[in-house]
Amino acid sequence: MIVAKNIIKEFGSPPQRILHDLSFEISDGEFVAISGRSGSGKSTLLYILSTLDLPTFGSLSIDNEDIALMSSERIHAFRNKHVGFIFQFHYLLPELTGVENVLLAPRNLNLHHQYQQKAIGLLKMMDVFHVAHKLPNQMSGGEQQRVAIARALIMDPQYIFADEPTGNLDSANGEIVMSILKKINKENNTTVCLVTHEPEFSAMADREIFLVDGKISNRD
Ligand SMILES: Nc1ncnc2c1ncn2[C@@H]1O[C@H](COP(=O)(O)OP(=O)(O)O)[C@@H](O)[C@H]1O
Ligand SMILES: [Mg+2]
Repeated sequence: MIVAKNIIKEFGSPPQRILHDLSFEISDGEFVAISGRSGSGKSTLLYILSTLDLPTFGSLSIDNEDIALMSSERIHAFRNKHVGFIFQFHYLLPELTGVENVLLAPRNLNLHHQYQQKAIGLLKMMDVFHVAHKLPNQMSGGEQQRVAIARALIMDPQYIFADEPTGNLDSANGEIVMSILKKINKENNTTVCLVTHEPEFSAMADREIFLVDGKISNRD
């Protein structure tokens, strides 16, 4: 469970306030969309929720642990084992093949041999087994994104954080990605936090956190 209390984020000097006193909880197994217009603070909030950045004021706790009090080793271990990240620009490592990219987190934990079969299974589930031994620049955008999802799922994460994962896909591939996220959420009870500016995708979530200028608001 994620508990955000009075989260404020400021950048620059003089400080510019981007997120204004946000408090909410995300329960295990929830599918939450973080939505709003470009510049409303969605990515900034997702970085904080996913432990990639800290709030300027306020606190974030995950599974009853305050992130600000965790050592960097512990945060790294937590991310490797329990968190899957999916971003708009897939960030596959260009020098690694599809299957090697999927095995990134197991490799960090020195478990890649045990996870080899699972990586192949995930590539098959995503319908991209044919790119297992190709480099990212030999894959289409949709294939790269599905490999990135396989990589995010390899450790059976409790949490998936996705920032506009459909943003640079055509609508058919966008719908495939959304249905995969829904399926993982339902079948594995994985908590999904999805940033999107597309109302049709946020409508697929259990709940929407709608941001206007860094504040939680209601859609008009
Ligand atoms: N590292 C940063 N330094 C300064 N300003 C930032 C930084 N990151 C984001 N911002 C600003 O915060 C606002 C919200 O950005 P962002 O969270 O990326 O919005 P969204 O994802 O909703 O488009 C924007 O005005 C952006 O310019
Ligand atoms: Mg963004």
